[in-house]
Amino acid sequence: MRTRFTELLGIRYPIVQASMAWITDAVLAAAVSEAGGLGTIGPNAGCTTITPDVGETGERLREQIRKCKELTDKPFAVNFVVGVVGWDRDYSDRCLEVGIEEGVPVAVVSQGSPLVYTPRLKEAGVKVIHVGSTVRHVQKAEDAGVDAVIVSGTEGGGHSGFDQMTTLCLVPQATDAVKIPVIAGGGLVDARGLVAALALGAEGVYMGTRFMATEECPTHPNVKQAILDAMDTSTMAIRHGSPVSRKDEKTGGRGFVEERRGSIRLLLNDFARDVIAAQGGNVSFEEVIAATGSPEENPESNRTIAAFVNGNLERNTITASQGSGLIHDVPTCRGLIDRMIADVKPILERLSTAYSS
Ligand SMILES: Cc1cc2nc3c(=O)[nH]c(=O)nc-3n(C[C@H](O)[C@H](O)[C@H](O)COP(=O)(O)O)c2cc1C
Repeated sequence: MRTRFTELLGIRYPIVQASMAWITDAVLAAAVSEAGGLGTIGPNAGCTTITPDVGETGERLREQIRKCKELTDKPFAVNFVVGVVGWDRDYSDRCLEVGIEEGVPVAVVSQGSPLVYTPRLKEAGVKVIHVGSTVRHVQKAEDAGVDAVIVSGTEGGGHSGFDQMTTLCLVPQATDAVKIPVIAGGGLVDARGLVAALALGAEGVYMGTRFMATEECPTHPNVKQAILDAMDTSTMAIRHGSPVSRKDEKTGGRGFVEERRGSIRLLLNDFARDVIAAQGGNVSFEEVIAATGSPEENPESNRTIAAFVNGNLERNTITASQGSGLIHDVPTCRGLIDRMIADVKPILERLSTAYSS
């Protein structure tokens, strides 16, 4: 399959494995790239413990980049989260330096302004793909000189933007607004999603949750099983504050402000349902996190590690896509990508028959 995006990066298929903190490591990224897509190494890739050390965070990333290069000679990406000065920006800055030192071919830059890292990445010869969730975001990214943009709708797992735009409405508005290639994300898990994204004007797909349920994804089997068990109504987008540089008493000093309309999509399990019900349905992600208990009460003090790495879903919840209800197996990355590509033709034939009759 060929689009401007596959040409830009020299990849076979317009399928990008999305970044997912902690669970998108060198092995997964290399498997996707080897299968013809574009794999992405995410924040804290390959790690099972948290470190407050900025230098160590950079060296952990360096190790992953080198490992990925050993596993594939095809292009792959690293996700740099722009983040917030005084909160996580120091880590992001160091990771960016390491990425440039190691000559990563492609950067997927998310959660912040394209003005922060684009000039340095472009100067270093790195292809830059910026992630946004509104038309304003993609226009700003194009003006900043990025090579392509990803727009991800509210159906997606993880942070799903400030304005709850659906993929169906967001993608065509984004493609109308910019000249550079647009990649569609949010709720896309199969060939139907790929064809639909192309029909909307996108030149590729960005899939997170679907790649979580693959053999190579290092997340815990409990997480993969939770996705397999999901049905259409199993996820819920809840409020998630926007990170700010100051600490906030009300939210336990985590530096979040809840007034913003940001949201995060949870895969509902018994724990999440109980917390949401206890709050009368109006709950923020910060309140869900608080309900997992203090580090003293719950020794697995990092909730993401507890859930995604250790598979403890009794007192934790995970984030996942509305598309989870369409995921019924745990294939290899190659098996998944080959199947998606093979399934495109019958869809096009069906459309062609419908159109011409
Ligand atoms: C568990 C999980 C972790 C995520 N972590 C990140 C991250 O570290 N950086 C980022 O830019 N996006 C992150 N995302 C968002 C994904 O990159 C992507 O936008 C989303 O998964 C696309 O929607 P889909 O899940 O329907 O495929 C995460 C998503 C999930 C489900």
